[in-house]
Amino acid sequence: MKNIILDNTIIIDLLSKERSLQYPSSKDVYEYITSDNLYQVYISSSSLDNIEFVLFSELKKSLSITNKEINTLIKLTIQELLKSVKLAKTPSYMEIDFDDIEGSQIIASAKAIDAMVLTRDERMLRKYSNIAIHPDEFFTSLKKEDSQIPFLDLKSLNTQYCSEYEKAFDTVVNSGWYIQGNECKAFEREFAQYCGTKYAIGVANGLDALILILRAYKEMGIMSNGDEVIVPSNTYIASILAISQNNLVPVLVEPDMVTYLIDPNKIEEKITSKTKAIMPVHLYGQTCEMESINAIAKQYNLKVIEDSAQSHGAYYKDKRSGNLGDASGFSFYPGKNLGAIGDGGAVTTNDEELANTIRALSNYGSHKKYENLYKGVNSRLDEMQAALLRVKLRYLDDEISKRKEIANYYLENIKNDRLILPTITTNSVWHLFVIRTPKRDQLQKYLLDNGIQTLIHYPIPPHKQAAYKEWNNKSFPITEQIHNEVLSLPISGVQSLEDTKRIVEVLNDFN
Ligand SMILES: Cc1ncc(COP(=O)(O)O)c(C=O)c1O
Repeated sequence: MKNIILDNTIIIDLLSKERSLQYPSSKDVYEYITSDNLYQVYISSSSLDNIEFVLFSELKKSLSITNKEINTLIKLTIQELLKSVKLAKTPSYMEIDFDDIEGSQIIASAKAIDAMVLTRDERMLRKYSNIAIHPDEFFTSLKKEDSQIPFLDLKSLNTQYCSEYEKAFDTVVNSGWYIQGNECKAFEREFAQYCGTKYAIGVANGLDALILILRAYKEMGIMSNGDEVIVPSNTYIASILAISQNNLVPVLVEPDMVTYLIDPNKIEEKITSKTKAIMPVHLYGQTCEMESINAIAKQYNLKVIEDSAQSHGAYYKDKRSGNLGDASGFSFYPGKNLGAIGDGGAVTTNDEELANTIRALSNYGSHKKYENLYKGVNSRLDEMQAALLRVKLRYLDDEISKRKEIANYYLENIKNDRLILPTITTNSVWHLFVIRTPKRDQLQKYLLDNGIQTLIHYPIPPHKQAAYKEWNNKSFPITEQIHNEVLSLPISGVQSLEDTKRIVEVLNDFN
């Protein structure tokens, strides 16, 4: 996604009839960029005053109405404009060019969000030729740009929220309280409500969320060193690290070849007298077959610890991920569907004792200032990340529905017998759209040659990692096949339909 700031010359072209006839390319470009979700269009907050002023004299020339009527018209016109464009802040750290204060404010606003400036101002076009562009040149310059499709455009995902982030930043700085303050409390409340659980505890990252759940069960006397936890063999390494870091034993279970999720039919055969928990991982955004998993857990008196790092908002029947077992670990790593501007994580649960134990463990083992019940750690979600996550949480469902639209487009339009498309049997929030082919490496290179970036989740299975040497000779054939064949296509809330269509066309031509 590209950010574009309209400068005052363009805005007046759009708002004044006379000027729009004189400079029609301003309107042509404006209509193009506001109708395509490849672009986010802004005006600099510094422009508003000036627009009001210039518009007044333009309207005064062309209309024979009273000043009061002109002012009302200006108000309505600017209100209308702000329905299609966003306001970009003029940063306080800007360098003022005293020969062109207005222009330097617009340029500073553009630099703050990495935007181009659309302008007919000759001076600006000359002085800032690297970011300023004339509407007459807009369409020709488009053709010259490289047309790479990124796997995930994190910058655009976040700049959509920049004005709300700005407010969140000011709130935190002005509060004078930077750890475990009101923002963290509010986020925990809102996230618990979103997941449908009684408690959410913010922690430093997703790995810590899982580590702390298991550690808390140990402190509560439910698990002890050497106990076993069942976990899928094709998960991201963090799920497994959380188990071994607690001196517990990860017991790997193969996934189902259709869903890539832990196969409930293979769990029971791995249960021993030492088994204390099952850790289903809702990989790629799809919830595991929780009814079967919970039934097995109930029969053998096991805890169910969801790894929800990839499944924020995903439903299983009428409940959301995070509320499908005894406890759940979330990651807010920037690339997740609910991603922070840095690291972050949370535990959700309905178990009050577990919630209190995790809260204490994550805060040096302290439940009360300077009193330590446990040998805890420092793993807290900081105020700034919590404040930013509160903004993003409000848009999570929107992000998920945009991902669903892209996924549905892929599912309906990718038509190539060489490619195996994902099968969703429960519900997915499409954290990743993963296709499969034995010619995976060729396909990845072919897509890259066509300007499409993809990733592999994950190239090396956990049992083949050097970190788990003791497993290197073990065989998990389904897992190995998945790791050799999967490829994740670009998908996100800011991906344009145009890009999605291009990806499909290129995929359909692969042979
Ligand atoms: C399935 C899974 N579990 C756990 C994690 C760990 O989360 P974090 O990176 O926040 O530590 C991740 C994400 O990286 C993940 O994808």
